[in-house]
Amino acid sequence: MIIREIQFGSEEFRRECELRQRVLRAPIGLNLYEENLDGEKEQFHFGLFDGQGKLVACVIAVALSPTRAKIRQMAVAPDQQGKGCGRLLLESVEATLARRGLMNLSMHARKTAVGFYQALGYATSGGEFTEVGLPHLTMEKCLTAHP
Ligand SMILES: CC(C)(COP(=O)(O)OP(=O)(O)OC[C@H]1O[C@@H](n2cnc3c(N)ncnc32)[C@H](O)[C@@H]1OP(=O)(O)O)[C@@H](O)C(=O)NCCC(=O)NCCS
Repeated sequence: MIIREIQFGSEEFRRECELRQRVLRAPIGLNLYEENLDGEKEQFHFGLFDGQGKLVACVIAVALSPTRAKIRQMAVAPDQQGKGCGRLLLESVEATLARRGLMNLSMHARKTAVGFYQALGYATSGGEFTEVGLPHLTMEKCLTAHP
């Protein structure tokens, strides 16, 4: 498994969108390709690739300030879920963000995924709210410096 940053608009970005559509949008009847993704040009895209170069998982980080970032669009291919891929990707991304000075992370987590983020040290903050028709909770984590 290898983790790489994905360039907006690249062939790998096209595959990232396919994975996001398959894992995060199609199951709830939404279409990622109807969304305006232009703003994602300024965001950090990361992918976990298997030994054959297949994209297994992806996640996006958005810098909100020099020290704060928002995590979004975390998705693992259905046949690879529950095998440690999500942890592998997000922990590596956290180390990268920490090196860039982005130490305070937050996200809008689907309620069904809260346990995953808790396992990685995120804590809930505030009450439940609805996004894309699903219950969500804000979750936060303050990183410590990585070498
Ligand atoms: C949620 C998701 C990103 C987790 O990735 P994953 O590769 O399946 O998770 P991992 O195998 O790395 O699990 C890491 C830890 O989290 C736990 N975990 C994983 N998914 C969980 C869940 N939905 N609820 C509770 N705990 C969960 C695992 O038991 C594991 O715990 P451990 O390391 O202490 O044994 C992935 O399952 C996924 O893409 N789900 C569908 C889309 C989604 O919900 N995305 C998040 C939107 S906010």
